[in-house]
Amino acid sequence: MAKRVKSENKLLLRALRGETLPHPPIWLMRQAGRYLPEYMKTRGQANGFLDLCYTPDLAVEVTLQPIRRYGFDASILFSDILVVPHALGQKVWFEEGMGPKLEALKSEADLESLGLDGFHEHLAPVYETVGRLRQELPAETALIGFAGAPWTVASYMLEGGSSKDFGTAKTWAYGRPELFERVIELLVDATSSYLIRQIEAGAEVVQLFDSWAGVWPEKDLRRWCLEPCQKIIANIKAVYPDIPVILFPRGVGLAYPDFARESGAQGLGLDTTVPLDWARDHLQSQVTLQGNLDPIKLVAGGDALERAVADIREALAGGPFIFNLGHGIVPQTPPEHVEQLMKLVRA
Ligand code: CP3
Repeated sequence: MAKRVKSENKLLLRALRGETLPHPPIWLMRQAGRYLPEYMKTRGQANGFLDLCYTPDLAVEVTLQPIRRYGFDASILFSDILVVPHALGQKVWFEEGMGPKLEALKSEADLESLGLDGFHEHLAPVYETVGRLRQELPAETALIGFAGAPWTVASYMLEGGSSKDFGTAKTWAYGRPELFERVIELLVDATSSYLIRQIEAGAEVVQLFDSWAGVWPEKDLRRWCLEPCQKIIANIKAVYPDIPVILFPRGVGLAYPDFARESGAQGLGLDTTVPLDWARDHLQSQVTLQGNLDPIKLVAGGDALERAVADIREALAGGPFIFNLGHGIVPQTPPEHVEQLMKLVRA
């Protein structure tokens, strides 16, 4: 029989149900990764980054590394948002020091070459990793599954990698909206069933990363970010009404209240630029907030870190709140600063 720890008492789950806790639960976006020497060692045993994601022994190991070191309240599955386009049939690879590369979609025929045939078979190692993590994690640690939001993933599929201005992807959206809509719809379907499978395998919470949401004018933001995320969340809730969803629509500024009110998410990830008192007054009565320490303050450490943690706790920890960064941890972060952060948040 599988050892299954009850979810409801874990601090992360309590915060996501709207409880205010004596000290906030903490985890960090990208908490597994290159700032940890033990990650570099395990990564060296894999045949590249994607192989690391698709090898349960190694993916379980790197997921557990930051938990062993720091005892975070939550563990996030080690994988990448780009396994979804990969599983849909697009070429995806990672070049050393270059970030992700994809064979960019150029035409309707390219889009038609993608599809859900074999999708879950391709992702079976990810589901296996989730199941094994659920067995191996400490009883108090919540397990978070994740995926990229449709727009953020589509941007990589159309740009062929990272981008400065998203010119190619946005030109699709503005110039050929019916075709772009098909890309987004495919990703809504794929991402919904991907997250449902992660939950089936043992994820207790799921987070949707819309890391590049902050590049759209108002109406386009609604159409290409808010509405697709709403659909995914509704699809998940239709099957698993009690599994909380955290949405991270990075950079949406004054549209954050729309995401709080309308997305259906229980948790909302704040990026580094969101003013704390404004977030408390305009968002926290509707959703549990998560964030938003500047990852570079974690690099700097010392007084800057201490003051920032105090400010964030003072503004947000009086309501439902999860301590996190405002974006992912960066590779130059000294591991001992994360130790310092844990002490500050738990003091
Ligand atoms: O610990 C965790 O948070 C879980 C693992 C995780 C990774 N990527 C591992 C990773 C998660 C949640 C992601 C999400 C992800 N991936 C996002 C959304 C979050 C964000 O940061 O905005 C995005 C946009 C991606 C796409 C991606 N993957 C990029 C742009 C890069 C290159 C940049 C970089 O940091 O190197 C990756 C690679 C990647 N994903 C690494 C890791 C640990 C580094 C790969 C390596 O070891 O060389």
